[in-house]
Amino acid sequence: MVSNTKKHARMSALRRTSLREFLKSRLTNIDPSTLPKKAKIIGHVALVRFQDEGIDPKELGKAIVEFYPTVRTVLRLRGITGKLRQPIVEFMYGDPNTETIYKEYGYKFMLDVSKLMLCLGNSYERLRTAKSVRSGEVVVDMFAGIGQFSIPCAVISRPSKVYAIEINEEAYRYLKINTVLNNVESIVEPMLGDCKELTPTLGRIADRIIMGFFGGTIEALPAALKVVKPEGTVIHFHELVRRGDGKDELWKEISELCLRLGYTSTLIGLRIVKSYSATREHVVIDFKVRPCIDLSTIPSNAT
Ligand SMILES: C[S@@+](CC[C@H](N)C(=O)[O-])C[C@H]1O[C@@H](n2cnc3c(N)ncnc32)[C@H](O)[C@@H]1O
Repeated sequence: MVSNTKKHARMSALRRTSLREFLKSRLTNIDPSTLPKKAKIIGHVALVRFQDEGIDPKELGKAIVEFYPTVRTVLRLRGITGKLRQPIVEFMYGDPNTETIYKEYGYKFMLDVSKLMLCLGNSYERLRTAKSVRSGEVVVDMFAGIGQFSIPCAVISRPSKVYAIEINEEAYRYLKINTVLNNVESIVEPMLGDCKELTPTLGRIADRIIMGFFGGTIEALPAALKVVKPEGTVIHFHELVRRGDGKDELWKEISELCLRLGYTSTLIGLRIVKSYSATREHVVIDFKVRPCIDLSTIPSNAT
């Protein structure tokens, strides 16, 4: 049995080495430039990307488990597919159980990493959004996933209600589990279905709407506007845009659509959440929308 002192000494020695340096010392027959530089660690699972088909996944996985003391399972991430953003993964090494719990800023997310994605690069945005919610607000999270925004909002800011809409049954199952895991069942109400259909059924109740999606978020804006309150609603609108002036073009498109549908929009802030590729970045635009006219004078199906 390894003593705690020896284990800690080994862990701090490993931390001083980069993953690639460590793998180079273990997989000496492989071209070092093809070895992964980093792994994405979600709970006890590590996800890695690599191109070289000559690498033995089991041997690489074993070395990764050795490098990260908290990792028990290693998966190869081939990509992320479709509107539901589902991962394409292959099991490499270790514990076959890919269901895990990821913790950040005092809340937890349970998920099956082989079926669902959690973006670690969005963690500050989750915290920022949650902190901007005021106690007692009604929040509509239109693309709720496993609760990436709904759970932090409920845990940190205690709104009166968060309607969390999710179309993927597997994500919805974990969304429900995560409300229980974080003791926010009385605040978060998971709803299974298409947000374009379900959002308008809520009526004009939203103080805040979260649109955490990319690849056509604007298509759901008309549905979002149907829950805007007469006194106005804050929207956090996510999308992938071209680097440079892509975000300004997006804001123009949003504000013009709002106006066409009978709403004024005021920009609160525009921030880059993360770099996405060489040409694109993930941005969030925060803005306040208000109906241009007294909503009680127009039929509900006209906006
Ligand atoms: C990229 S994930 C983002 C989850 C979370 N909002 C975040 O930003 O971290 C997008 C989620 O929206 C869900 N989704 C896609 N289209 C939807 C729709 N029409 N209605 C409700 N959910 C949808 C997907 O299944 C997925 O869970």
